Amino acid sequence: MSEQQKDNFTVLYEIAQRINSILDEQELLEKVLETAMSHLDAERGYVVMVNPEDKRGFSVVVLKNFSSPKAADESAASSSVINNVLKTGEPVLTFDALSDERFEASRSIVAQQILSIICVPLRLQDETIGAIYLDSTKSRGKFNNDTLKFLAVFGNLSAVAVENAKRYDKLKDENARLQNEVTSTNLFPGIIGKSKQWTAALDLVRRVVDTDVSVLITGESGTGKELIARAIHNQGRRRDTGFMAINCSAIPEQLLESELFGYKKGAFTGANGDKKGLIEYADGGTLLLDEVGDLPMSLQAKLLRVLQEKEIRRLGDAETRKVDVRIIAATNKNLHDEIKGGRFREDLYFRLNVVEIHLPALRERTDDIPVLADQFVRTAAETHGRSVKKIASGAMSRLLRHPWYGNVRELQNVVERAVVLSRGEELSEEDLKLEQYSEEELAQTGLTLEEFERKLVEKTLNETGGNRTRTAEKLGVSLRWLQYRLKEWGGDSR
Ligand SMILES: Nc1ncnc2c1ncn2[C@@H]1O[C@H](COP(=O)(O)OP(=O)(O)OP(=O)(O)O)[C@@H](O)[C@H]1O
Ligand SMILES: [Mg+2]
Repeated sequence: MSEQQKDNFTVLYEIAQRINSILDEQELLEKVLETAMSHLDAERGYVVMVNPEDKRGFSVVVLKNFSSPKAADESAASSSVINNVLKTGEPVLTFDALSDERFEASRSIVAQQILSIICVPLRLQDETIGAIYLDSTKSRGKFNNDTLKFLAVFGNLSAVAVENAKRYDKLKDENARLQNEVTSTNLFPGIIGKSKQWTAALDLVRRVVDTDVSVLITGESGTGKELIARAIHNQGRRRDTGFMAINCSAIPEQLLESELFGYKKGAFTGANGDKKGLIEYADGGTLLLDEVGDLPMSLQAKLLRVLQEKEIRRLGDAETRKVDVRIIAATNKNLHDEIKGGRFREDLYFRLNVVEIHLPALRERTDDIPVLADQFVRTAAETHGRSVKKIASGAMSRLLRHPWYGNVRELQNVVERAVVLSRGEELSEEDLKLEQYSEEELAQTGLTLEEFERKLVEKTLNETGGNRTRTAEKLGVSLRWLQYRLKEWGGDSR
């Protein structure tokens, strides 16, 4: 073995060790080029990778000492050497009289200076996946058959390392995808959504499930507040005990009080026996106070006591009882406004709102519309025995444009209705019956002024692509007026 060969062998061994430990493809390719150039004392170089998407069939992935990436790209494009190596899979060594831009200035130099080029394939068994290209105007003596052999072996080693890095990348992606699937399907079965806004909300949910802190869930009507409240209960450590829910807006004050706190026999006419309230039923479990913004003031004080003292007193009873209840409250009202208006106790607000989870409106997370709609199609088709399999693309883009003041619930209803009425395998735009309000419809009789206003606002919002400022301008109203109305209709609860 000559001195040079021994040196090459040691170098190859060291290089193999070094490059095989790099798992990032770009970093690896940079290292490959740098090592080849320094070992051969080359002035410039680049690595190309076979790329069927590029019309030349390859693209330059790393380069060194070219005046610009474009210059390297042009050199590669015009180089028959590259094409040759990629086609034959054989290394090439040439001494080329120049066509290079750098030498145009002085013809006398061109006469003496010859560009030496060495180019070897990156080969995996029989497949050529790319090539390393090096050139030099000085190293005529250095680029010889020995260095060619060296670089050819180096190319093979590099190809294996590149392949490993690619596999590693794929595994990493696959792993991330699986992780994501596991967390979205197992932790929250039936809860759909991948948008940034929705995952941020779910992330908060994940952080509170294993605690007992009070959670306030806010969001417009139909954004999934109850769904999330149940998920918090079902995934937390109280899952084996009861989940109770009460809608504070649907029940008259007196009844609500006895429902929540229970009563002692004789507490009022009709109280014929002792009765436990929901808070006691939820002992050890979770109580959802839905529409908590509508809880009457008198009951707010009593609820505060439950939260502070962890005890309750049934109506008409002198005795207090210890309870251990996790309270989750939900509202589509802006509680700050309620507090300002004197309708909600600030101290209760702070007790309920240890963590606020705000659920974004559907139109703020349009990325989720296709996944939600697809899921609703599947379940509705199954429930109603329909053969609908998918949503036509025109229909989908219609869904994406709709303002969705009723949020996920509205989407679910629209899709379900369309599935029930459909005949084919694909839902069309017409099936959705989301036609923009026509003038005739607006002119139809029997609408209240409020309904008319709402339809007109929705129509105009549709026309402006949801742009509120332009909508207000078109309707000749102030932006404030529009925002106020939208809020009132559940169009914006923040
Ligand atoms: N991310 C989601 N994935 C799947 N279904 C959802 C999602 N969000 C909401 N839904 C569905 O939409 C409907 C409305 O949700 P939910 O009743 O939880 O909303 P809400 O915010 O409590 O509404 P409201 O304020 O009117 O009480 C339910 O049928 C629920 O299953
Ligand atoms: Mg609800």
